[in-house]
Amino acid sequence: MNDLEELVGRAEADFAAAVTPADLENAKARFLGKAGQVTELLKGLAKLTPEEKKTRGAEINQTKQKIEALLTARRQALADAELEVQLKAEALDVTLPGRQRGTGGLHPVSRTMERIEAIFGSMGFDVADGPEIEEDWFNFTALNTPADHPARSMHDTFYVDTKAPDGSGHLLRTHTSPMQVRYAVQHVKKHAAKIAAGEAMPEIRVIAPGRTYRVDSDATHSPMFHQCEGLWIGENVSFKDLRVVFADFFRTFFETDELDIRFRPSFFPFTEPSAEVDIAFGSGPLKGRWLEVAGSGQVHPNVVRNFGLDPERYIGFAFGMGPDRLTMLRYGVNDLRLFFDGDLRFLSQFK
Ligand code: PHE
Repeated sequence: MNDLEELVGRAEADFAAAVTPADLENAKARFLGKAGQVTELLKGLAKLTPEEKKTRGAEINQTKQKIEALLTARRQALADAELEVQLKAEALDVTLPGRQRGTGGLHPVSRTMERIEAIFGSMGFDVADGPEIEEDWFNFTALNTPADHPARSMHDTFYVDTKAPDGSGHLLRTHTSPMQVRYAVQHVKKHAAKIAAGEAMPEIRVIAPGRTYRVDSDATHSPMFHQCEGLWIGENVSFKDLRVVFADFFRTFFETDELDIRFRPSFFPFTEPSAEVDIAFGSGPLKGRWLEVAGSGQVHPNVVRNFGLDPERYIGFAFGMGPDRLTMLRYGVNDLRLFFDGDLRFLSQFK
């Protein structure tokens, strides 16, 4: 092997030993740079005769070309390897299942609320909203339940230690019935001129759905639960109208005509007479069983007076039903607490 072949061999080994582009450029300088071994050889030509220069020059040039070709090949190999590493690092597994955006859904009780509002809305009822931290007066006293009334003990609740404008305390409302008074008082104010002139006031027809609170907790009671109040007051509104409204509502809500309704005598301080409303399905898993779905009654004269109306002239009914209970019946759920646990395995079944 002559010196030139040996030089090519060393260049090849040096280039192969370079693992980074910077190493490779240093190796290149050792052979092809200004003071590189090939350059030195070319400088050495000066000492030769013209004949020798010709052959030796051609041999050195060939050597230079070989080394340049090796350099180019090694550069390419390093660039390929780098690309390979990069591609591996950024690898996309196109067989992985895609990430899906979960579709949300309404809570089953919210669905019931919306249904109640839509059905009563179609019967000409307004929908009203009121405070959950309520004044004692609206929650009890105005509803014919004075401070010493025994019915208060059935509505034990959470009291908030601030005074209302009338000097009474605040509490978490135990039912939506205070909305009867709040809504009626506003309605009466709005039509005060007509009422003062002895003209007929437009009827009050409203529902008030919302959250209510009591110290209660088991499979069918939760400390927070929902109610939907209803109130219809006019000059000639009777229990007969209540029955028609309920029949219409429950048949539409449960999507069946095979449904019986009965009124069972009961007591509420703010209605007289009072009745619990029971329904029974004519078919399905609950066929023939009477299920309590609402409290109701003719609004007590004292309450009508608190509305700011004359009970001799204005009369009507009120009711309060439990949307949680209706949701349980509609979907066949047997534990109320499932609605409030926030467990997605349960809730996502209602999407
Ligand atoms: N507020 C009563 C309750 O919570 C229900 C009711 C409302 C009864 C309206 C009669 C009239 O038990």
